[in-house]
Amino acid sequence: MALFDRYAHVYDRFIELVRVHRPQRFVELLEISCHGSAYSVLDVGGGTGSLAQKILMLQDNLHFTILDPSNLMLKRVPTQAKERARIVTVQGQGEKLPFARGTFHRVMIADVLHHTQDPEQVMKQAFQVLKAGGIMVVQEYNPEWLRNRLLIFLEKIIIDPSMQAIFPSDLKKWGRKAGFFEGEIFFDKLQFFWKGKKKNRRF
Ligand SMILES: C[S@@+](CC[C@H](N)C(=O)[O-])C[C@H]1O[C@@H](n2cnc3c(N)ncnc32)[C@H](O)[C@@H]1O
Repeated sequence: MALFDRYAHVYDRFIELVRVHRPQRFVELLEISCHGSAYSVLDVGGGTGSLAQKILMLQDNLHFTILDPSNLMLKRVPTQAKERARIVTVQGQGEKLPFARGTFHRVMIADVLHHTQDPEQVMKQAFQVLKAGGIMVVQEYNPEWLRNRLLIFLEKIIIDPSMQAIFPSDLKKWGRKAGFFEGEIFFDKLQFFWKGKKKNRRF
């Protein structure tokens, strides 16, 4: 049983209550424009797809693949949304992505890495499945903030005893080791975003 199977039935209600999703920030950082052909986006640990659906409301030229180990989270992605927006769901782990190299234009990982066994390996795998010239954005909670330390402590006790806090410096280091260039950090209240690009073969 995947950890988030336990929380699937309440997850979306909880997320709406705490209002932590930042769809506009993802659209900006992923550099998704409304011009040109559709982008394929891999949402690693995309769960119930509620963030993907919010992004699709802002920008609809996207084809989402939502990967998650929790089948019960994935089952919450509404069938209508899947058909309308061509959302595909795949059960799997970020550490072992079941996709060919260079499959996606964009990869996003929101509020997930601190729950994974091997976050560095997830970054490596994401790099592999990203197309040349593609962009990846990771969102995490900044453990350098005092208030977040309390939240992380509570999350560890209540939800996930094996979770590990992720620091901006971790993402910079893992991103560089995975092969990304221009790894940048953006702070947004209690959260931070790491953005990395995969070099275009031309350069
Ligand atoms: C806090 S939820 C975030 C869901 C969604 N990204 C969002 O922002 O609403 C964390 C998600 O990470 C998933 N997860 C946990 N371990 C994972 C792994 N090794 N690879 C991919 N996803 C994982 C969980 O099943 C869960 O759906």
